[in-house]
Amino acid sequence: MLQRVVRSTVIERPVEEVWEVLRDFNRHDQWHGLVSRSTIESGLRASQVGCVRAFTLRDGGFVREQLLGLDDRNFRSTYCIVEATLPLERYVATVTLKPVTDRRHTFWHWSSTFGCPRGEELALCKVVGDEVYEAGFADLRRYLSRSRALARGAVGDRGAAVSGAQGEGSSAEPAVQAVALEGYGDARQLQPQTRRLQRLGPREVRVRQTAVGVNFIDIYLRRGWIPELLAPGAVPGMEAAGELVALGSEVTGLQEGDRVAYMGPVPGAYASGRNVPRDWLVQLPPSVEEEMAAALLLKGITADYLLHDLGRVRPGARWLVHAAAGGVGSILCQWGTRLGARIVGTVSSQEKARLARNWGCEHVIVTGEYRFAESLRYHFPEGAEVIVDGLGAAAAGENFQALADCGHWISLGQASGGLEPLAPDLLVRKSASFSRPVAFAYVATRQALQMRAQRLWSALEAGSFQRPSIERFALAQAAEAHLRLESRASSGSIVLLP
Ligand SMILES: NC(=O)c1ccc[n+]([C@@H]2O[C@H](COP(=O)([O-])OP(=O)(O)OC[C@H]3O[C@@H](n4cnc5c(N)ncnc54)[C@H](OP(=O)(O)O)[C@@H]3O)[C@@H](O)[C@H]2O)c1
Repeated sequence: MLQRVVRSTVIERPVEEVWEVLRDFNRHDQWHGLVSRSTIESGLRASQVGCVRAFTLRDGGFVREQLLGLDDRNFRSTYCIVEATLPLERYVATVTLKPVTDRRHTFWHWSSTFGCPRGEELALCKVVGDEVYEAGFADLRRYLSRSRALARGAVGDRGAAVSGAQGEGSSAEPAVQAVALEGYGDARQLQPQTRRLQRLGPREVRVRQTAVGVNFIDIYLRRGWIPELLAPGAVPGMEAAGELVALGSEVTGLQEGDRVAYMGPVPGAYASGRNVPRDWLVQLPPSVEEEMAAALLLKGITADYLLHDLGRVRPGARWLVHAAAGGVGSILCQWGTRLGARIVGTVSSQEKARLARNWGCEHVIVTGEYRFAESLRYHFPEGAEVIVDGLGAAAAGENFQALADCGHWISLGQASGGLEPLAPDLLVRKSASFSRPVAFAYVATRQALQMRAQRLWSALEAGSFQRPSIERFALAQAAEAHLRLESRASSGSIVLLP
């Protein structure tokens, strides 16, 4: 018969702070008195489901346990014993945390089932219940109060601030889950951690974030392509949505509980909460869910300024849009078609081609190798009047060939690598113009942001484009989200859920 052990307690710290420790499958040697050493086998990451940790116990015993599930949304992890010196068979345990109503305390539920030799049931239940779980509760309390004391004494702790708000993070301010950049490089540089918010500035609001938009610029920043914007140790992310939980003393026209979204030129959105300037904020109409807002705001406002300002779309205009099934591309193609543009799109797969046709492209070029100029000229013999180029280096030569005389090449991004500087004389050959726009410049004032956001929600409401398809990742899995985006596998928008 299976034995069942259940213990619970309340820890006097916010759930994010407790979870930061408990979600780490390779950290018990720092806080649990029974464990003297912990290692993850086979070079896997401690957050990877299926990884096995090997504990050396202080009494000389050992345990190998496998991670079966890690749910950052519900603060739950499940694991089983693979091998142990104690005769615990088919042992499966679950740790679940819940915020207590005042949100400064955490309810911690720890339960397991296991089989064991006849006659040893009582003794083994006592070992698991008392020496592992109850002792663990006390050890974690001690560990957290030690870390707090250290944090208070730390000078220049780079974990202190999530946003660019003034003031040092103080222990009176809430802790949030965040994902920070360990150093420039690949997606493994994105590491979950707990941070403390700074004191709220007078013109700032505090957002409890429920959805964070992932954009290609996050990848450039992670790679270190714009070092002045994101230093190692800082938190990436340019947009999010959620609920207002506090207002600065000079903020008017908003109230706690309002549903909002923001986009801003300073990274820091990969977090469960953030202080942001009031001017970055838009309130959400009832028809726009927070997840949808995070999927849509930056990408939709980009489509808006491209169509209405930079590209000055008009009926019959010939546009070439790269990555036509992507986040920006899918909105731009639909909205542009609705406004009368004739759009040729490029994509890298037949599946994306099917989507791009649905989004209104009258012709779709499937190319993984940035070869499109000849096919474009076949369809638009005079070339494209506007090229929206998020590809960069690898597509530069073909873009110029595809461009019509007097055409406008809009260099939106550089997914394939940075563009070499263009000689002005190159443009002279086609009397062409070249732009290198940035969305944040088009929402630099509160009025501009409100106007564009309103136009976006109205266009969504009017069916000018469909609600974007959303791929969801837990916040702590930001690295997986980046891998997905840079592998060219995604279409539509990607959102992180704190
Ligand atoms: N300047 C601005 O204001 C602004 C604002 C927002 C976005 N952007 C830019 O707009 C572009 C689209 O952004 P997004 O966030 O919506 O991303 P996205 O289009 O959803 O994803 C990028 C797409 O680029 C294509 N791509 C081509 N070569 C690639 C490569 N070597 N690595 C990865 N992807 C490659 C892929 O589509 P295929 O597989 O179909 O080729 C991929 O799906 C990006 O260049 C971004 O920087 C600029």
